[in-house]
Amino acid sequence: MIDLYTKPELYDAIHSNYMWDEKIISKIGKRVGGPVLEIASGTGRLSNVIIKLGLEYTGIDLSKEYTKTAKMRYGNQGAFFVQNMQKFDLGTQFKFIFIGFNSFLHNLSNESALDCLKCIYQHLSNNGTFLLSIYIPDPSFLYRDPNNLYAATDYFNFKDSKCRIMEKNLFNPETEINNLKWFLEVDGVLQEEEYNFSQKMYYPHVMDLLFEKAGLVIKEKLGDYDSSPMDQESNMQIYICGKS
Ligand SMILES: C[S@@+](CC[C@H](N)C(=O)[O-])C[C@H]1O[C@@H](n2cnc3c(N)ncnc32)[C@H](O)[C@@H]1O
Repeated sequence: MIDLYTKPELYDAIHSNYMWDEKIISKIGKRVGGPVLEIASGTGRLSNVIIKLGLEYTGIDLSKEYTKTAKMRYGNQGAFFVQNMQKFDLGTQFKFIFIGFNSFLHNLSNESALDCLKCIYQHLSNNGTFLLSIYIPDPSFLYRDPNNLYAATDYFNFKDSKCRIMEKNLFNPETEINNLKWFLEVDGVLQEEEYNFSQKMYYPHVMDLLFEKAGLVIKEKLGDYDSSPMDQESNMQIYICGKS
C-alpha cells in the first residue's frame, strides 16, 4: 500500500488538466487581496493562481514530498510549510484563506474538521474571506460494488505512457469514511501497486453546524465553480465565509 500523497509526480500527471477551480480562486483573490493562505496546498497546483495576481502567498500541507515539489516550483515567490491543517499556528492573519479540491474531506472526524475550522478562524483577519470547496456525498459513488474496479480519471500521460487510474472504494456508513484504493493502468496493463487514501463525507447540514461552532459565518453557498447557487441538483458545496 502506497500513500498517494508521497508521489508528487504521479499526482501532477493525473491532475495536469484540472483547472476548473482556478477561476473562482482568482476572482476572490482579486476582490479580497492578500496576504493569502492556502490549506492543503499540495504540489502547488493552485499556488500560481494567487502568485500570478501579485499577492503574498503561503501554503501549508501535511505531505513533505508534495511541499518539496511546491517549493521547488514557487518557493522564491511564496512560502510553503509542512503543517497539519488540524493544528497549525503561523502567528499571523490572512485576508483570504482557501481549502480547495476536496482536501477538507481528509479530516476524518467531525472533531478534527472542527479543529481545522477553528485554526482557520484564528488565522483569518476580521474582514477576511474564507473559501472551502468539497463535493456533495453521492450514494451512487459510495455504495458501488466494492469488488469492482471503476475508471477514476480520463487518460493522461505519465512517463511516456498512456495511463489512467482505476479505483475501488469501500464506504463505512457508521464513520462516514470512504476508503479508496487507486491502481495505475499503464498502456492498458493494470499495475499491482495500490495507492490509498480516505475521505469523510460531509453533508451540507453538517457543514452549517461546523462553521457555526467554529465562529465562521457563511456568506454564500455555491453549487459549482461557475458560481451558481447550491441547490438540490448541485454536485458541489462551495462556501464563502467570513468572521461576522
Ligand atoms: C486532493 S489533494 C489537493 C492538493 C492541492 N490543493 C490541489 O488542489 O491540487 C489533498 C491534499 O491534502 C493534503 N492533506 C491531507 N491531510 C492533510 C492535513 N491533515 N493537513 C494538511 N494537508 C493535508 C494532502 O497532502 C494533499 O496534498
